[in-house]
Amino acid sequence: MFKVGIGYDVHRFVEGRKLILGGVEIPFEKGLLGHSDADVLVHAIIDAILGAMGENDIGRLFPDSSPNYKDISSLVLLKEVAKLLEEKNMKIVNIDSTVVSQRPKISPYTNEMKNKIADCLKIESTQVNIKGKTTEGLGFEGREEGISAYAVVLICE
Ligand code: CDP
Ligand code: ZN
Repeated sequence: MFKVGIGYDVHRFVEGRKLILGGVEIPFEKGLLGHSDADVLVHAIIDAILGAMGENDIGRLFPDSSPNYKDISSLVLLKEVAKLLEEKNMKIVNIDSTVVSQRPKISPYTNEMKNKIADCLKIESTQVNIKGKTTEGLGFEGREEGISAYAVVLICE
């Protein structure tokens, strides 16, 4: 049996934080605000996986109110989700995702992101796809106020 899931996330830019996307630190003049490392791509992927599993969402599994998750690497959360998948005997077929940011361009970093995400999920990096997209200056991403990310995942059981 196959199950599909969708994930979406947004974080706003702030001064004085590192920019972490797909577990990779990207040199940029500002970072994303959030309780964890605010890795908007990994959060969208986690929500897509949880969606496919029928397991609510990232905020319910890892509450903002918990000090355990303050400034935590979102890759740690992704590994937790990988454990849940294993417990349920579910396997990821593939992940596709889009990061929407006017700047920075992410394509120089997507191979490293794919490797990190695949490692956490114990899958091949060829099962993970990451695309970058601008909005041609339109909307909050275009004004460089924040970054959004979309992900879909197919899992089989
Ligand atoms: O040309 P089109 O409108 O389809 O795409 P775009 O948003 O102008 O982006 C052009 C190319 O830049 C994309 O195909 C990506 O390869 C790259 N890109 C990126 O790496 N990171 C982003 N945040 C946005 C775009
Ligand atoms: Zn998030």
